[in-house]
Amino acid sequence: MRNLLDTRTLDRESALRILDVAEDMSDTQTRENRKLPTLRGKTVVNLFFEDSTRTRISFEAAAKRLSADVINFAAKGSSVSKGESLKDTAQTLQAMGADAVVIRHHASGAPRTLATSGWITAGVINAGDGTHEHPTQALLDAFTIRKRRFGADSRGQDLSGIRVVIVGDVLHSRVARSNVWLLTTLGAEVTLVSPPTLVPQNVSQWPVRVVYDLDEALADGPDAVMMLRIQLERMNAAYFPSEREYSRRWGLDAVRAATLADDSIVMHPGPMNRGLEISAEAADSPRSTVLEQVTNGVSVRMAVLYLLLAGERDDERGEGS
Ligand code: CP
Repeated sequence: MRNLLDTRTLDRESALRILDVAEDMSDTQTRENRKLPTLRGKTVVNLFFEDSTRTRISFEAAAKRLSADVINFAAKGSSVSKGESLKDTAQTLQAMGADAVVIRHHASGAPRTLATSGWITAGVINAGDGTHEHPTQALLDAFTIRKRRFGADSRGQDLSGIRVVIVGDVLHSRVARSNVWLLTTLGAEVTLVSPPTLVPQNVSQWPVRVVYDLDEALADGPDAVMMLRIQLERMNAAYFPSEREYSRRWGLDAVRAATLADDSIVMHPGPMNRGLEISAEAADSPRSTVLEQVTNGVSVRMAVLYLLLAGERDDERGEGS
């Protein structure tokens, strides 16, 4: 794997390979000494132009558990405020010895530009770009669904026949986009539920069913319900009903969660707007996998770093791999 830029071009075989390696990594994390020597001598740069808690810290934890050195860069407080470009910033960090660059950027396409411009030779991992994609989030979500369904027998399994409902602000969600591509590549059936104003215009080209009524979607008995964060910071007021109406019609509360089958799970990528898209009762219930997703994120990111820096390097594969 040379880069990980998206899940739209990640084929089934490559996706399963990442999930299976993540299973191996997960097993090592239960040991007393969970550090592996695999990436000793390698340097991973976390290049974050947008805020993050889970993604940045779990990439740091993943790299350190594989014995890589980590350099953390946050645009806030850096020379970006003096006008330094993405190219000059990336080349500066490469000059300090970066072997892999994990980038989060407000501009959709920034990771692809970094990977294909020839500015740097390091491998590039997309940690979320604008409203485009967040591939490692989708991989950890798929890993979580698979683990809940198959337990210790997860390796090699895809998600055929599993039904996932993704609810909320699809328009602005890179998590939704990456999950739509990855989950359907792995055989899952995906239904999007959203206010009409928060559905992307080109959704008819996506391999999904779209409904506007959350109760109708929940009545179909999904295996997983993935609540999306309302991205108030990207929102145009014209798109958004009042918070009260949104919560009443598209929020997951304890009453709605109680209609789900016993083995159905509730997911959220975080950070959550408690009381808006998800109630505290639903977020903290035994069917919630919110913290499991965070734990699994470390294993999945270990797998991605391993395959990028120590695994087979096949530059002929698709953009995702
Ligand atoms: N899910 C997610 O990307 O969270 P952070 O913004 O905290 O990284």
